[in-house]
Amino acid sequence: MLELKNITKTFGDVTANNDVSISVTKGTIHAIVGENGAGKSTVMRIAYGFYNADSGEIYVDGNEVNIRGPHDAIALGIGMVHQHFMLVDTMTVAENIVLGAETGSPINLDLDKANKEIKALSDELKLNINPTAYIEDLSVGQQQRVELLKALYRKAELLILDEPTAVLSPQEVDEFFAILRRMKEQGRTIIIITHKLDEVLAISDDVTVMRDGKVVGNVKTSETNAKDLARMIVGRDVLLRVEKTDAHPKDAVLSVSGLSVPGKHGLAVDDVSFDVRAGEIVGIAGIEGNGQTELIEALSGLTKPSGGTIALNGVNVTSTTARKLKEMGVAHIPEDRHKRGLLLRSDLAENSVLGVHYRPPIATSGGFMNSGAINTRVGDIIQNFDVRPPNPALPARSLSGGNQQKLIIGREFELNPQLLLVSQPTRGVDIGAIEFIHRKLIALRDSGSAVLLVSAELEEVTALADRLLVIREGKIVGEVDPKTASTEDIGLMMTGG
Ligand SMILES: Nc1ncnc2c1ncn2[C@@H]1O[C@H](COP(=O)(O)OP(=O)(O)O)[C@@H](O)[C@H]1O
Ligand SMILES: [Mg+2]
Repeated sequence: MLELKNITKTFGDVTANNDVSISVTKGTIHAIVGENGAGKSTVMRIAYGFYNADSGEIYVDGNEVNIRGPHDAIALGIGMVHQHFMLVDTMTVAENIVLGAETGSPINLDLDKANKEIKALSDELKLNINPTAYIEDLSVGQQQRVELLKALYRKAELLILDEPTAVLSPQEVDEFFAILRRMKEQGRTIIIITHKLDEVLAISDDVTVMRDGKVVGNVKTSETNAKDLARMIVGRDVLLRVEKTDAHPKDAVLSVSGLSVPGKHGLAVDDVSFDVRAGEIVGIAGIEGNGQTELIEALSGLTKPSGGTIALNGVNVTSTTARKLKEMGVAHIPEDRHKRGLLLRSDLAENSVLGVHYRPPIATSGGFMNSGAINTRVGDIIQNFDVRPPNPALPARSLSGGNQQKLIIGREFELNPQLLLVSQPTRGVDIGAIEFIHRKLIALRDSGSAVLLVSAELEEVTALADRLLVIREGKIVGEVDPKTASTEDIGLMMTGG
């Protein structure tokens, strides 16, 4: 269906694609894997006409084609869903889908007709999307399905999905994969970029592995496994398990007692009590949306609890501000990097001092920014956390998701926190970086910090945590020993089964 032959593309000194050839068979799901910066998005954007290759050829159904822009790609039946959605919040699903697909002024659009067509497409694939709903009222998973509908509405036969699961919870991933399988049954072809090896093994027919701008492997999914793929991706053996010794916890750093936090409908966190001691990682397992977000926001001082107390080293900090908590040694790695973690338009240097920019050594006594101290700080983070590309002057938005995450983690670790609150530390991060982030979290624990970890990945939270609390509907419904508890048992506690 699609053949990319000897594609080379450079950006300045960077060779993003070096003689890349990829062949995708009609009616299959083809996974593209590789570390951040391997060149996956670039080659797919070339197929979609978003970039033009310096050299190389593209064939569709055996015919050489000239794709000068997305318009040409769409005309050839190629659609692409980007990692960051391009939807207008204040418009309806149908308005978003028709926007740009129709010619003529928006006032003349036949929205009734569009609504019907979109409803039919949605029903056919069981997407469960209402064409008249406003984007701002939809979940991330639903918005992604709108992007899929947009491509299908434009008659895409080949869909390119760039890290579609990075923003989804594990439950949403299952639903999403069911949709991809239905699309495949209808004869469509899908290219999916992902970092998750279990996803590759679950959904794809073929895999192309990229490293440093080149294709380093092409395998049938049925003839490979996670270990071999990991080795191809990183170029060395990767530890897919977390290695750690037993914790030696000391006194409680965080003590939560009877904590309640209001949510949209009633209490999001309902009478929760637990401790996190110095030198241990306490994990919180639960299906997303069961109060984890609100709990972490209250603990980090971003929202006010409606009842109960939070104590830090025995000091009541229940109504202490986020800034003061940070000064007291509480670091926070948020689940939503874009909303809470980074200023995307600002450079890495500015982002590296967010939250400490107003105090020494970053601010001078005269209230100026100390550029020497900022340079030292960003340099340390880039080096210790392997942030690529290592250029402090780049805007944060130009980094891949994994490198943005390493920057945030590095910044928070630089605080030498007594307590680290961390949510979804490896979401959207490649396997080399996952191994790295896991090691850093264990090292922080071993240096005597208390760590509270929220992750929707049961495997991750059981591997890292020394103690595991299960949350359901805002309540802690149990504590298990992650070394002995089975996934099934934890899953049952999470779902109340
Ligand atoms: N628009 C761009 N300008 C400059 N460099 C870019 C641009 N897009 C990608 N790159 C660089 O090209 C390389 C490959 O990037 P990309 O294709 O995004 O990798 P991947 O999707 O595998 O993470 C990286 O070094 C990246 O920094
Ligand atoms: Mg990419």
